[in-house]
Amino acid sequence: MNVKNTLTINGNEYHFQDGETILEVARRNHIDIPTLCYLKGTTPTGACRLCVVEVEKARSLMASCAMPAAKNMVVQTESKKVIQSRRTTLQLLLSSGNHNCLLCPKSGNCELQNLAYKYQVSGDMFVQRKSVYPMESVNPFIIRDFSKCILCGRCVQACKEVQVNNAIDIGYRGASTKIVTAGDRTLKDSDCVFCGECVQACPVGALVAKDARFKARLCETEPVRTTCTYCGVGCQINLHVKNNQVQMINGVEDAAPNYGSLCVKGRFGYDFINSPERLTTPMIKENGNFREASWDEALDLIAKNLTHIKETHSPNHIGVLTSARITNEENYVIQKFTRAVLKTNNIDHCARL
Ligand code: SF4
Ligand code: FES
Repeated sequence: MNVKNTLTINGNEYHFQDGETILEVARRNHIDIPTLCYLKGTTPTGACRLCVVEVEKARSLMASCAMPAAKNMVVQTESKKVIQSRRTTLQLLLSSGNHNCLLCPKSGNCELQNLAYKYQVSGDMFVQRKSVYPMESVNPFIIRDFSKCILCGRCVQACKEVQVNNAIDIGYRGASTKIVTAGDRTLKDSDCVFCGECVQACPVGALVAKDARFKARLCETEPVRTTCTYCGVGCQINLHVKNNQVQMINGVEDAAPNYGSLCVKGRFGYDFINSPERLTTPMIKENGNFREASWDEALDLIAKNLTHIKETHSPNHIGVLTSARITNEENYVIQKFTRAVLKTNNIDHCARL
């Protein structure tokens, strides 16, 4: 750190690194500045103006998410002017669509709702604008409720700069502005791969997981941290559980290797967990039909058949395939068992192919 780089925020002096914004310096020092359009790790767009601060000698309030910190800068984050500006911006956002929280799936976890509460803004200063675009739900995963969209652009940043899919962008102009796909088609007819990065990035209820709607709000669930089992990448996920059932899945934002990102399977492919058709006991096939068996019975049968093949033919008549969907430790044990117990090197792994 260049020790000469200092600025003053709310009367206290702080160091900053070259390239850091006012917002980054403030957050690093536990100074709260509200944001809506800011998405960590992506280029700031300065779209929402919630993060405005007063900078001495500047002619207007500055968006702290986009304003680089500068030597000897003097910043106020909670001045009367700043608070008034934030309250007006919130009034405008609240009247920009249907921000009634009663039936909103995001209620309790909505950044706009939280800011309205913090700044004591009810949204009745301006006439509420009706959305010109109907809700879109013609895909199995994501509901787009344009009446709740505040056009912060976080979904676009997430799609463009985090997932690098470029499936959505900001389209049209003025009161008709909308988040669009190429040709303004539905998500299912676009380049969208349904990774759900946009759903996780959306600060309000404009993008929500279809399966969880009216079953559970995020704030009603308990997060259970675990590792996704779909492949060997090891993405960190939170299972959001209510009534002992997984209601939705989010990526863990501050953990490697995925830092919040997931693929369509990891984020939305969890219905098998609660499926009544899921096998819960081993099955043994007899006379062409499967019957339920205990683990002891199933393992005894496997041991008997493997021993029979080994003794009647040879160990090399046995081959073992392992999986990327189990842990490294389990894969290690399987190869050890194959080589040391079955006495064959016929062991392979799906991820090698
Ligand atoms: Fe922002 Fe959500 Fe609208 Fe995208 S859909 S612009 S993330 S409010
Ligand atoms: Fe800075 Fe939106 S967070 S302008």
